[in-house]
Amino acid sequence: MPGVGTAVRLAVLASGTGTNLQAVIDACAAGTINGQVVGVISDRRDAIALERARRHGIAATWVGRAQGESRDAHGARLADAVAGASPDLVVLAGYMRLLPMTFLGRFPRRVINLHPALPGELPGVDAIGRAHAEWVAGTRTHSGVMVHLVVDEGVDDGPVLATCHVEFTPGDTVDSFGARMHAHEHALLVETLRQVCADWPQGMGLTPNPGGRA
Ligand code: GAR
Repeated sequence: MPGVGTAVRLAVLASGTGTNLQAVIDACAAGTINGQVVGVISDRRDAIALERARRHGIAATWVGRAQGESRDAHGARLADAVAGASPDLVVLAGYMRLLPMTFLGRFPRRVINLHPALPGELPGVDAIGRAHAEWVAGTRTHSGVMVHLVVDEGVDDGPVLATCHVEFTPGDTVDSFGARMHAHEHALLVETLRQVCADWPQGMGLTPNPGGRA
């Protein structure tokens, strides 16, 4: 395992079950990723991702959007919570809210998103279910997974870091297809972070974080 002093500091935002978060935690522990998950932040108090973080001794923070709170105000509060972990990189692993510039402006070119579709296809929620429905209807032959930088408020859109194709197989249900997609997601996210962290920060075309140690 890489020394903590040299590991790239990863803050992970997740809204749901956090299987991708788990893959990242495990890959950091195994030394596959030269990184350390230094905080997990969720917009949902009951996110299983937060439980996973606590189980690993990782700071777990809930930043819900208060009633009447604007998206911008929530984004700023979320940014404060994330900045508290002093991350080098922010990884969206199933974070299901659009991040406003009040958040993104605080971490320029340092936010990475995972999305279960190929670039330009099926942005937003339930991309797996929608891809499967299109395959059933005969209008889709395959789908895929992408990891990209989040530079503005475009939905599941931004400079692409990695993609992989995922084929349908005869008789696929949404569950069997979803399980295959998730396996590809875990692998693609880990491999992308492995590369990014191995060549940090030059690999991302980044200059050292003024507030960080990179
Ligand atoms: C993953 O399929 C991820 O790609 C998706 O949420 C799921 C989270 O699963 N993200 C999006 O759809 C982003 N638009 P997990 O909680 O088990 O990691």
